Amino acid sequence: MYAMIKNIVLIGFMGSGKTTIGKILAKTLGYDFIDTDELVVKNEGMSIPEIFENKGQEYFRQLETAALKEAMALEGVIVSTGGGIVTIKDNEAILAKGTVIYLEASPDQIYKNVKGDRSRPLLQGEDVYQKICTMLKEREVLYKSLAHHIVTVDGKTPQEICTLILGGIQ
Ligand code: S3P
Repeated sequence: MYAMIKNIVLIGFMGSGKTTIGKILAKTLGYDFIDTDELVVKNEGMSIPEIFENKGQEYFRQLETAALKEAMALEGVIVSTGGGIVTIKDNEAILAKGTVIYLEASPDQIYKNVKGDRSRPLLQGEDVYQKICTMLKEREVLYKSLAHHIVTVDGKTPQEICTLILGGIQ
């Protein structure tokens, strides 16, 4: 009988590098990589801004939970999640099936990574920096309480972050 390989799940705010880091981790470990946002887009046949605009955030969250379930039904995969995944209570138990890594980024780092981005409906319009601060404050406690490991990403290269993650989960 083979030992079950736990999935590695990356959580964290928008622009914290989950997708970039997830792809490198997957390559390094020889795991498959799944991004819940990509799965939502593929399953729904619509972009994330289109889903938010036409169906609303609540509908997006339902699709996101379905995508998370789909990803976590697989074994030995790296799962990169959307930044709001922790806001839905039912997702907690699904996330907890894997080894959960919180990529912790400061508002400054996040702002640097997302400014000018048009693909994230929650970070459009005026005062993007303020929006980041407010949402991060609300979500930080959730990220921290769900994480098995926390890695601070500010000022680090993707490779350095991956090395820290791999060191931490051994
Ligand atoms: C969201 C984060 C996005 C995406 C959607 C909503 C959020 O994913 O799921 O725009 O609520 O934080 P990323 O964290 O990959 O940007």
